[in-house]
Amino acid sequence: MFKSWSLKLKITLFGLSLMTAVLGVLIWSMAHFIRESTLSQVRLSLSETSQLLNLAIVPYATDTQVHILQDYLNELVGSHSSLIKYIIISNGQKIMLKAGNVPLTLPAPQNPDNLKVVPDIIHVRQRILFNTDDIGYLQYGYQTTDMTLYRAALIRNASLGLFLVLTLALLSITLLGHRLGQRLRNLNAAFMDIANGDYSRRVPIDNHDELSRLAILFNRMTDAVEERWRALLASRAETQSLNSSLEKNVEQRTQQLREANRSLQNVVDELQRAQKQLVQSEKLAALGQLVAGVAHELGTPLGNALLIATSIEEQDRSFQSRAETGNISRIEFMSLLDTHQQSLDLLVRSLNRAASLISSFKQIAVDQISDQRRSFPLERTIHETITSMEPTYRKFHVRISLDIESDILMDSYPGALIQIFSNFINNTVLHAFDHIIEPNIHIAAHRQGDQVMITFTDNGTGIPQENLKRLFEPFFTTRMGNGGTGLGLHICYNLVTATLGGEISVASTLGQGTTFTLILPLIAPRHAEKSLSVVQQIES
Ligand SMILES: Nc1ncnc2c1ncn2[C@@H]1O[C@H](COP(=O)(O)OP(=O)(O)O)[C@@H](O)[C@H]1O
Ligand SMILES: [Mg+2]
Repeated sequence: MFKSWSLKLKITLFGLSLMTAVLGVLIWSMAHFIRESTLSQVRLSLSETSQLLNLAIVPYATDTQVHILQDYLNELVGSHSSLIKYIIISNGQKIMLKAGNVPLTLPAPQNPDNLKVVPDIIHVRQRILFNTDDIGYLQYGYQTTDMTLYRAALIRNASLGLFLVLTLALLSITLLGHRLGQRLRNLNAAFMDIANGDYSRRVPIDNHDELSRLAILFNRMTDAVEERWRALLASRAETQSLNSSLEKNVEQRTQQLREANRSLQNVVDELQRAQKQLVQSEKLAALGQLVAGVAHELGTPLGNALLIATSIEEQDRSFQSRAETGNISRIEFMSLLDTHQQSLDLLVRSLNRAASLISSFKQIAVDQISDQRRSFPLERTIHETITSMEPTYRKFHVRISLDIESDILMDSYPGALIQIFSNFINNTVLHAFDHIIEPNIHIAAHRQGDQVMITFTDNGTGIPQENLKRLFEPFFTTRMGNGGTGLGLHICYNLVTATLGGEISVASTLGQGTTFTLILPLIAPRHAEKSLSVVQQIES
């Protein structure tokens, strides 16, 4: 409860209690002092009075002379201002003399030294020598009323004075407390304002005391807080503007990225279309090569056949005109038949050769553009492929040597294999054999369990190390715009790994040549077969 009291109340209560205590102590000690001093005053007066009386009485202290003192005593007690109210003188047995208002029964005497309080009248008894050897006494009543009144007035006035002083002091304290309370309230209000966010608030400084110093410190602290607050506001505003511009930027960038993404997607679509077209045109180019090969290969047997047929025709024509004139001998006739027989043999052989060429070309063409699966002897397919490609590599004087196990039968996709070999051969003449004096290709194939390992080696320029790891990437070419599309080996990679279910790797040494190695399963994994109308056309 005490803690919840206001400071002012506490100060006032404290001041009040202090004042009361001080006042109490002061009044008590003052009263004590006055009483004590009154008592000692009384004792002093009594002792003086007793001496005086003693001195006055002793010369007449005999039964016969004592009455002389009557007038003196009457005078002593009779005067208005006298403090002695009565006097009696006794010789020890009876009262010899009395003056003043002696009470009916003589009051018991009091010892001034033992007095604790001052009574209205003090009855003092003092021994005197009477008749030179009797012990008599003298008793008188000493009035102290004036002194008591004086003392009371003194106490009253002093208390009043003290009370006034203390009231004044209390008033000052209250006023001070009020003023202090007001200043504290000011400070408090300022604190509240600051707490509520009014950082411009300052406390007026009108003094040089501790509170003013506190107010100065408070104002200084508020300055600092206000400064911080302004800085904070500024930085918040800055952050907000940065944020909003960042947001705008992000939005803008996002939009740009979206657009870029869209156009990139278009480009990718375009590229995919182009890739498809290129793949298609690679296939068509191979087909073109095949047609050229067919034309070239058929040229020899058909030319021979034509030559033989023409010579037979000529022989027949001259034989016919001589037969009409009738001068043909039997030997001549037999020789003609013999020649005919030989020519016809040649003719049949040439035509057979042409027919077989056509049939193998037909197979290769079908294989090459179809994705058909079938059983085939590896050696024959490689042979036929090389033959069909002869026009391509022969003009570069390329020699191809083969080391192929003869009884390798594959159940796979010959079209894919033909396309892979066409690509290898095309690549050698395009990339490997520049300035090579004796360009050679060596193809080897060996069984390894249910797989076959085929190596295709050239003695060309080789491939730099940094290109090797990018070789199978689509569009990687060192002859961009110069006969290269960068798709050949990528297609080979896809055919080997996806269609044939095998692996392809390459090793190369600059200046020595390149080897492509294929490891293929003899029985390829199964795929959904595609039929091409072109294939059907060729087959029909
Ligand atoms: N036998 C080879 N000798 C040297 N370089 C080759 C050989 N085969 C392929 N390359 C290199 O590999 C690259 C990629 O070949 P390829 O995918 O067929 O694309 P392209 O032939 O259209 O350039 C070629 O550009 C060439 O640099
Ligand atoms: Mg190529």
